[in-house]
Amino acid sequence: MSDNQASLTADGKSIEMPVRSGTIGPDVIDIRKLYGQTGLFTYDPGFTSTASCDSAITYIDGEEGVLLHRGYPIGQLAEHSTFMEVSYLLLNGELPSPAQLDTFSHTITRHTMVHEQLSSFFSGFRRDAHPMAIMCGVVGALSAFYHDSTDVADPEHRKISSHRLIAKIPTIAAMAYKYSVGQPFVYPRNDLSYTGNFLRMTFGVPAEEYEVVPAVERAMDRIFILHADHEQNASTSTVRLAGSSGANPFACIAAGIACLWGPAHGGANEAALNMLKEIGTPDKIPEYIARAKDKNDPFRLMGFGHRVYKNYDPRATVMQKTVREVFDALKVSDPLFETALRLEEIALNDPYFVEKKLFPNVDFYSGIILSAIGFPTTMFTVLFALARTVGWVAQWNEMISDPGQKIGRPRQLYTGPAARDYTPLDQR
Ligand code: CMC
Repeated sequence: MSDNQASLTADGKSIEMPVRSGTIGPDVIDIRKLYGQTGLFTYDPGFTSTASCDSAITYIDGEEGVLLHRGYPIGQLAEHSTFMEVSYLLLNGELPSPAQLDTFSHTITRHTMVHEQLSSFFSGFRRDAHPMAIMCGVVGALSAFYHDSTDVADPEHRKISSHRLIAKIPTIAAMAYKYSVGQPFVYPRNDLSYTGNFLRMTFGVPAEEYEVVPAVERAMDRIFILHADHEQNASTSTVRLAGSSGANPFACIAAGIACLWGPAHGGANEAALNMLKEIGTPDKIPEYIARAKDKNDPFRLMGFGHRVYKNYDPRATVMQKTVREVFDALKVSDPLFETALRLEEIALNDPYFVEKKLFPNVDFYSGIILSAIGFPTTMFTVLFALARTVGWVAQWNEMISDPGQKIGRPRQLYTGPAARDYTPLDQR
């Protein structure tokens, strides 16, 4: 905690506010008493200068391209660890011992089945429904099935519902895919890894045994690690805000999924691959670069730019490497990868992108890998949601356990009409 104070003078009133320091990263001015003492609010749409909570889970230094989970750099976790291990780390604060990892993986595995009646929800959707629409509905519906773990004041309930969410989300994601292609749902199998199980539930069919390709399983697991948490982004803040009212965790995660769906957030991976397909060959790149720079054209380079990273997104580095590994393992290639590499090179040498510090983000290359593995573009954001669930759950738990937690209630700058008298209908 820093002894520093910040002072503000406005409307002839002066106020001192404490400046608080975290472990690393910018200090924050604690403005909680501002309104009470001055009658003024702060104004920060998009929260570009506002810290909304204390958090010990994830740290990002956007200028340096650093991403740490509980202090561990994302590159090291992606290289040496597994998604189950990272999930344990995010939830519990420390890397697990072998015995702890074993127990955790066992617990998650034993929660992978969903209530059989939940399956009937799917048939209420059109076959061509976007799987994210199905995810919002079905994940929200979990609250109707697991009443025995929705008391948010009970730490044991919170733990069980957290495990249920992490365990069931791959099953629901695979079911959403199966429904869209008209194939039967595949039940989970407990002898497979979290990620191997998900691949089998997605691509397996009852008519034959599905072989998990280890390199693909590893790549998919790494993609999950790269998406597991990302500090107070839009969907995580949505989960926290929804949870701040005491709403049950299934409903809160459904709210997070809804927010993630947008093309400026989780939907960017789908949009990035669609953009690469539209560009097609490298000779078309200059035309699209020109459009991205044109203020009168709403087109943006999808998979480029980030609110926080003003240096290379460290997740994009790992993602680019993973593309080659998946291509080698599956003995495939994709001309769009060449287009993507060339687009990156051209953009990174263009003053517009350099000056605005726009670099490829995690989504720029992920679509190429996912489509090589066999996922349709509509599933990309679902995979993001699957991986991010552990981050949402960890952040939700942290918020609920915080004794200073309050319902989230932003204020506003009102710009509508001042008070006026009602005009009777016949006088309008
Ligand atoms: N292509 C072209 N210009 C861009 C782009 C882009 N992708 N991104 C930002 N800019 C420009 C923007 O027009 C603005 O220019 P000016 O200052 O002249 O008005 C400037 O850069 C700053 O942009 P901003 O919209 O104010 O920045 P932001 O922090 O609000 O937005 C962003 C961040 C990620 C929403 C934005 O960069 C974007 O829309 N990128 C494309 C979508 C995308 O890839 N999203 C995935 C983010 S990573 C995954 C995740 O965490 O969800």
